[in-house]
Order: sequence, then structure tokens, then C-alpha cells
Amino acid sequence: MNTVFETALSGKHIVIVGGSSGMGKATAKMATALGAKVTIASRNTAKLQAAAGEIGSGVRIAPVDTTDGAGVSSWARGLGSVDHLVISASSAARGAFTDLPIDDLRAMFEAKFIGPYMTAREVMPVLVKGGSITFFSGVLSRRPSAGATGLGAVNAAVEALAKGLALELAGRARVNCISPGMVATEAYAAMTEETREAMYAQVGSSLPAGRVGEVEDIAQAVVMAMTNGFLTGSVLDVDGGHLVRD
Ligand SMILES: NC(=O)c1ccc[n+]([C@@H]2O[C@H](COP(=O)([O-])OP(=O)(O)OC[C@H]3O[C@@H](n4cnc5c(N)ncnc54)[C@H](OP(=O)(O)O)[C@@H]3O)[C@@H](O)[C@H]2O)c1
Repeated sequence: MNTVFETALSGKHIVIVGGSSGMGKATAKMATALGAKVTIASRNTAKLQAAAGEIGSGVRIAPVDTTDGAGVSSWARGLGSVDHLVISASSAARGAFTDLPIDDLRAMFEAKFIGPYMTAREVMPVLVKGGSITFFSGVLSRRPSAGATGLGAVNAAVEALAKGLALELAGRARVNCISPGMVATEAYAAMTEETREAMYAQVGSSLPAGRVGEVEDIAQAVVMAMTNGFLTGSVLDVDGGHLVRD
């Protein structure tokens, strides 16, 4: 028996920008298992090929750097029609207010806000009526952390973008935002395993859920955002209870 999600996604074309890693890759796997035709995009072709090999079942790759305006434009024209666009691509810059180099702050806004903005705008001509766009922010937008104020601010900007676009694109496309808490992904690959596991244990034990997130937790939420026709202008907090913890 088909689940409601298989019925909604079977044969649909889903483009996942950031699909070579972490939550984007997990979403690509889940959507493929539900019968969708998936295209994954990010900058590094070799990483995309490796991810496609892992996901299997005819996943297409379409390399793009979301911060390259002309490149995004020609990339979007090569996609064919798109039912659902998911943008998890980003980079993060952390550092104290007086220490974080302004160039690093700018690069983060380029990768996490301007890039997704341009990507969504360039995909609009090929996004089918009744489709959806899902952006990614993060818990720091509303639970700030000293040393990550720039990251909190860019997350808040992405949430405002999703809410504003839900109005502007009403009747054309639904627009939502996933706000993850800490999720175990390749984003933390630069840390030693010992430091990373200690961080996961410490943050996890502070959360009502008792653990940090797995990529599949987030993929489930993206599938919901793509398929629930009454969901638009929403920020889905998939954070293990981070927003309500002490
Ligand atoms: N992990 C967490 O704990 C956490 C917490 C809160 C919020 N978030 C947010 O959740 C989202 C997903 O995070 P994640 O941990 O799954 O990320 P991730 O594993 O680090 O993956 C990021 C993806 O984005 C791609 N990418 C980066 N810059 C790009 C660009 N300019 N153009 C195209 N692709 C680009 C990367 O591939 P290439 O490098 O090959 O381009 C990669 O596929 C992000 O928005 C992140 O800020 C994450």
C-alpha cells in the first residue's frame, strides 16, 4: 500500500541544492525511496558523484555554486521542470563580534542567504504551479549563542525570506523553512572524532529529546514540507526541543 508521502512524491522532480552532504543528502535518499526523481546540486562534482552512487536509483547531479549569479541562471535553465526545490547549501562563520572578519561574515551571507535567494529566483520560471520551496535556517535565529551572532542573524534573514515569499508566491508555490538544531553531519567533519562526540553528548543531554539530531529526522520534516498542501510561511523547528529548553 502506498503511503501518503509516496502518493504525493512519486514521479515528482525534486531539486536539492546541498544534496551531496548531510541533511540534503538524507532528503535525497528519502525522496528517492518514495519514488521521486531527484537532482542533487552543490559545487564539487566528485562529491556529487559519490553521493549519487550512494543514493542510487537514477539520481541526477547538476553542479552549481549558488553564489555565482550567472552560473545559477544557466544551471536553472538546464533543470527541466521542477516540482519541489530544497536548499540546504550553506557555510557558517563563527567568531566573537569584534573578532569575526567582516569578509567571513559577508561570505556566510553570500552562501546562506544571497545564494539561496538567487537560486530560488532563478528556479521560479521552471517551478511548477503548486510546487514548493524549502529553505534552511537554524535554531540560532531565536536561541542566540555568544560567538555565533552573525550565524543567528543570517538564519533569521532566511526565515524572513521564507515567510515573505510565502505571501508573494501565494497560489503559485508554497514556501517554508526548516530550522534544525544541532544535527550530526559532515559540517562537523573538521573536528576530531573525540571532540565532536563530546560536543554531541553535551548538547544532546541538554535537550528534551536527549540527543542531537540525525539527518533522517530532518529529511522527514522536508518530506512533510514538500507534501503538506496547507503548510506555507512556516518555520519547522526540528531541534530536539532546543527552543524550549532551559
Ligand atoms: N548541522 C547542523 O548542526 C546544523 C544546525 C543548524 C542549521 N544547519 C543548517 O542546515 C543546513 C544543512 O546543514 P548540513 O549540516 O546538512 O550541511 P553540510 O553537510 O555541511 O552540507 C552542505 C552542503 O552545501 C553544499 N554547498 C555549500 N556551499 C555551497 C554553495 N555556495 N553552492 C552550492 N552548494 C554549496 C555543500 O557541498 P560543496 O561544499 O561540495 O559545495 C554540501 O553539499 C545548512 O543550511 C546549515 O546551516 C545545520
